[in-house]
Order: sequence, then structure tokens, then C-alpha cells
Amino acid sequence: MCPGSFDPITLGHLDVVRRARSMFDEVVVAVAVNSAKRTLLDVGTRVALAEKAVADLAGVRVEIVPGLLADFVTGVGATAIVKGLRGGADVDAEVPMALMNRHLSGVETVFVPGDSALAHVASSLVKDVARFGGAIDDLVPPGVGDAVRAALAADGGTAR
Ligand code: PNS
Repeated sequence: MCPGSFDPITLGHLDVVRRARSMFDEVVVAVAVNSAKRTLLDVGTRVALAEKAVADLAGVRVEIVPGLLADFVTGVGATAIVKGLRGGADVDAEVPMALMNRHLSGVETVFVPGDSALAHVASSLVKDVARFGGAIDDLVPPGVGDAVRAALAADGGTAR
């Protein structure tokens, strides 16, 4: 299971999904609904963009996590949670979640280093760049840039 907010899905996420698929026969891209963050894109848009991005990857599907990730992981019967690491800040953020998810579900988290060429790619940065008119289309799968720009225009630029 590759969980996240995917607000929006980036080439960094896709890289990690591909790496997860190289280790596991089946990969679920799990789009969280109740992340602590206020999302720019609604969950339907985040799911639709993720589905389009993984459409050509056999054995990969997208699902919504309606509540607690640990419950969802158990319900699906996932072998592992897979998370990408870009650097030390990701370790600091991810290890407590991995420990909590293991505490709640018994399921381990597998950390995979992402492509170093994508180490600067984060959904938050992508949104910030787009908010100020910067180019993001080479950082995200096709169609995502347009969705982000449309959401920013509708939102008035206040969402994180
Ligand atoms: O892409 P993100 O925002 O870094 O992903 C964080 C996410 C969505 C994986 C995390 O917030 C999550 O699992 N949310 C679902 C609710 C939950 O289980 N929270 C406790 C996590 S230990």
C-alpha cells in the first residue's frame, strides 16, 4: 500500500509506486480523505488524477482511505506500507507514522529511497510554485498541472 494525500500526485509519487510494484505483485495507491492538512484538490479529483497516472501500470489500483490508515491496511490485507524517502526530513516525519501504524495494525512500513533526480519534488512545493505562476508540468503526470491551476484559480490561493 502506498498511502498519501496526493494533493496532487507527482512524478515523485509515481516513482515510489513503480518501486513498490517492483517488490510486490499488487500495489494500492491509497488516497487519504481525513489528512490533517486542508487539501487544495477534493478527494474525487485526487483519485481521478492518481487513476489516470497509474492507468498503464499493471497490478496497481487506486482506493480511498475513508478514515484511519491502519484500519484500511488491515481491511485490505496489505503486506506492507511503502513510503518514499527524499531525505532526513522525510525520515523524521515518516518514522513516527510507521511506528504508529505498526502499533495499530502490526503492518510494517518499507522505506524506499526515491529517484534522486526527483528529490526536490513535493506536492506542497508544486502547489506553491503553481500559485505564483511557475512551471510545474514537468514535475507531475499529464493533466495534473491543469487541475492544480484550475483549483488554485477557484480557491483564491488560500489552500495549502
Ligand atoms: O502525503 P502525506 O500527506 O504525507 O500522507 C500522510 C498520510 C495521508 C499517509 C497520513 O496523514 C495518513 O495516514 N492519514 C490517514 C489518517 C491516519 O491514519 N492518521 C494516522 C497516521 S499514523
